[in-house]
Amino acid sequence: MGNELVQLTVFESAGTQAPAIASPRATPGSAPGRLRTFYIETFGCQMNVHDSEKVQGVLLARGMKPVDDHARADLILYNTCSIREKAAQKVFSRLGAFRKGNGGAGKVIGVLGCVAQQEGERFFERAPQVSFVCGSASYSKLPELLDRLEAGDRRVTGLSLDTEECFETELTRRDNPFRAYLTIIEGCDQRCAFCVVPMTRGSQRSRPSEKILAEARRLVEEGYTEIQLLGQIVNAWEDPSPARRSFAELLACVAEIPGVRRVRFTTSHPRFFTPDIVRAIDAHPALCDQVHLPVQSGSTPVLARMLRGYSREEYLERIDYIRQARRTISLSTDIIVGFCGETRQDFEQTLSLMQEVEYDQVFSFKYSPRPNTLAATQGDALAEDEKGLRLAELQEFQRQIQLRRNQALLGATFEVLVEAHQPRLGQAVGRSTTNRVINFPGSPSDVGRYLRVNVTGAGPNSLVGVRV
Ligand code: SAH
Ligand code: F3S
Repeated sequence: MGNELVQLTVFESAGTQAPAIASPRATPGSAPGRLRTFYIETFGCQMNVHDSEKVQGVLLARGMKPVDDHARADLILYNTCSIREKAAQKVFSRLGAFRKGNGGAGKVIGVLGCVAQQEGERFFERAPQVSFVCGSASYSKLPELLDRLEAGDRRVTGLSLDTEECFETELTRRDNPFRAYLTIIEGCDQRCAFCVVPMTRGSQRSRPSEKILAEARRLVEEGYTEIQLLGQIVNAWEDPSPARRSFAELLACVAEIPGVRRVRFTTSHPRFFTPDIVRAIDAHPALCDQVHLPVQSGSTPVLARMLRGYSREEYLERIDYIRQARRTISLSTDIIVGFCGETRQDFEQTLSLMQEVEYDQVFSFKYSPRPNTLAATQGDALAEDEKGLRLAELQEFQRQIQLRRNQALLGATFEVLVEAHQPRLGQAVGRSTTNRVINFPGSPSDVGRYLRVNVTGAGPNSLVGVRV
């Protein structure tokens, strides 16, 4: 899913500016000694945001302190995203500020996440200022790697993908005070032809249901009321414990924990989207009225070349299950335009599917060839300009659908969880169970509360309202 969904995430140690010159702490090449402060910047999806929370937990447990300016940090970490070329380039532009003689001296710079895994040891050649490269499948090795760095090792790596284990999360330090992310499955075995994730996050590992439920209960004790279950392919989760719960049963168990008011899950794969998931939503008010179901394309031949494992018709069957629910479930999707060999006709199939489904939100992307994927070897037939034109056309098409759908909500009342307050505008920002953003006049003390809001205005991307 696109970054847009984490817009409201409060991630205090994340910055967006390219770093300025930093002050040296030790001479280059000498042992850094005890690392006392750290700065993490996170790129990409919710999985990465949550991974950074896990990493932060490990660092805090070592007695390190977070700082919000990389210039004051002994350890600078970039948690990277490789899903598209543009995302992958971001870390290199950040690292540019630490080129030799330009501020990195005395600091330890580490690269985590998908670009780290993808580039591996090559990273040190491309960016010699980096001394630490670690992919998400190796985060259980973090304490050991940090020990080695403190002892003076110049280059340390955690790049093994053949792990069976999931990263233990007791130490996780969550940054969002309302929505707690909880990983239930790591990695992905699907190997969609365009996607780098199986290469950067390794193979599928499901956490046992008991551990997930114990963590969910702990989160409620800490005061969280909204839990978002995470996985690249969340509904392919298979309980490795003797309880052998299905994914729908797991959803029900989390929703039944006293104190849980909202449960979301992302990202579902259409292949594993079964009717019992919809029945669970119908039966449990705490399961949000929202399903994110990436379709990628509305054309069956393109879906086949993408190796998605379903046709247009099979995808629409899943939409039918969802539409038959007693509750009105809001739908969102991901779409790639300009995949290898996509014809105008294929593209129009995507538009017609969007017309048929009428999504509430669409995250759309230009196809970007990625290293080591099947599609990258097939060449990238469509010109960048043409991809750009199709993307703009698709986004305008969806804008009209969203505007229409949001305007139909005028006069409706929603319960929202208030996630932020914008003092400049005197506006509170809340989210409905259908994942719609609603702005309304409110005060800072509204943040964290559940309030009922009546919709008085509608744009394509958000609603405005007043408290009832
Ligand atoms: N696990 C999720 C998606 C992970 S990536 C799933 O099952 O769909 C998030 C989104 O990025 C994808 O849904 C896809 O729309 C987009 N994406 C992935 N690889 C891409 C690529 N090579 N070029 C453009 N978009 C891509
Ligand atoms: Fe990527 Fe397909 Fe898995 S989009 S994350 S390979 S389901």
